[in-house]
Amino acid sequence: MDSFDRTHTSLRLSVTDRCNIRCFYCMPAEGVRFLPRSEILSFEEITHFVRVVVPMGVTRIRITGGEPLVRAELPTLIAMLREIDGLEDLALTTNGMLLGEQAEPLKQAGLDRLNISLDTLDAAKFERMTRRQGLEQVLAGIDAAQRAGFASIRLNALAIRDETEEEVVPLVQFARSRGLVMRFIEFMPLDAEGAWQHDRVLTGEAIRGILERDLGPLAPAERTDTSQPAVDYDFADGSGRVGFINPVSEPFCGACDRLRLTAEGQIRNCLFSTTESDARKLLREGASDGAIEQLVRESIAAKKPGHGIDDQTFLRPQRAMYQIGG
Ligand code: GTP
Ligand code: 5AD
Ligand code: SF4
Repeated sequence: MDSFDRTHTSLRLSVTDRCNIRCFYCMPAEGVRFLPRSEILSFEEITHFVRVVVPMGVTRIRITGGEPLVRAELPTLIAMLREIDGLEDLALTTNGMLLGEQAEPLKQAGLDRLNISLDTLDAAKFERMTRRQGLEQVLAGIDAAQRAGFASIRLNALAIRDETEEEVVPLVQFARSRGLVMRFIEFMPLDAEGAWQHDRVLTGEAIRGILERDLGPLAPAERTDTSQPAVDYDFADGSGRVGFINPVSEPFCGACDRLRLTAEGQIRNCLFSTTESDARKLLREGASDGAIEQLVRESIAAKKPGHGIDDQTFLRPQRAMYQIGG
C-alpha cells in the first residue's frame, strides 16, 4: 500500500523494448537503439520477481512491450507465470501483428485475456500511423484471437485530435460486428519524438459526442472494477459497449493499483515516474527475496498522488512508451 492508501494488486510487466511497427505516438521513426539482450531480464529472472510480489498481494499481471510477441518463446513465460499460486489474471497487450501464429499457443500456455491495438481500418492511414504496412495482418490476428477463445478481447485505439476523428465510427461498428469492446485512449505525453501537445488530445468526451451523434445514445455501464483505467458505456439499443481511457482529461490516479517492471528489470511506481528502482541488480546478485520485497515496498511508498501532466512542474519521463510498456 502506498502513502495515499492505494493497494497495488496489478503488475505491468514489459518483456522487450523491441517492436515490429513504429507508431508515431510511441516510437521514433528511425534510429531506435534497442537494449542489448544481456540487459533484458531472462524468463527465470522475471518469474523470480513475480514469485516475490504475488505473496505480497499482486493478483493480476499484464504483459507489455515494446511488442511482447517479438520476444522469443513468449508462451514459455506465460506457462511459467501460470504456475504461480495466487495469480488470478494473466493478460497481454499487443499490436496484433503476430497473433495469427501466436494466439493459439498463447491461449494453450494459459493466457486469460488480450488487448489488441487497432487505431484505424484504413490501410493507408495504418501505414502513416505505424510507418509500416500491416493492417491485414492485424485483422487476421484479431480473427485468430477470437478463434482461440480468450475470455476477453478488447480493442484499443489511440485518440488524437485532427488525426483519428474519422476512425471512431468505423472502429466501433467493426468491434460491435465482432462482439468486441472498442476502447479509445487519450494521447499521453509519452511519444519518443516529443510531439505531444495538450491540444492534440482528442478527449473521451469528444468521442462520445461523435458516437452519440452518429450511432445513438450511450449510457454508463455499471463499474465492477473501479481501479481499471477504462470507463465503459453501453449503446442504449443494446448493440454493444465502448470504453474510454481518459488519463489526460479525467485522470484516474486516485484509484491506481499498478506497478511496473521494465524489460531490463527496473521497478516504476508510475507510468510517468522519473525515477526507478533497480530490481535486476538484486536478481543478478543473488539477493534474498526479502531484499527484493523491500525494494518493491520502498518504490511504492515513494509513489506520488498522480501523474501531474497539467502541473507547472510536470517533467516528461526520460523513457518513451515503448521503453516502459504502457
Ligand atoms: P484492462 O483494464 O485489464 O483491460 O487493461 P488496461 O486497459 O489497463 O491495459 P492496456 O494495456 O490495454 O492499456 C490501455 C491504455 O491505458 C494504454 O494506453 C495504457 O498506457 C493506459 N494505461 C494503463 N494503465 C495506466 C496507468 O496506470 N496510467 C495511465 N495514465 N495510463 C494507463
Ligand atoms: N498515449 C496513450 N497511449 C499510448 N499507447 C502507446 N503510446 C501511447 C501514448 N503516447 C498505447 C498503445 C497500446 C497501449 C499499450 O499503449 O496504443 O494500446
Ligand atoms: Fe497510476 Fe501513474 Fe497511471 Fe496515475 S499515471 S494511474 S498514478 S500509473
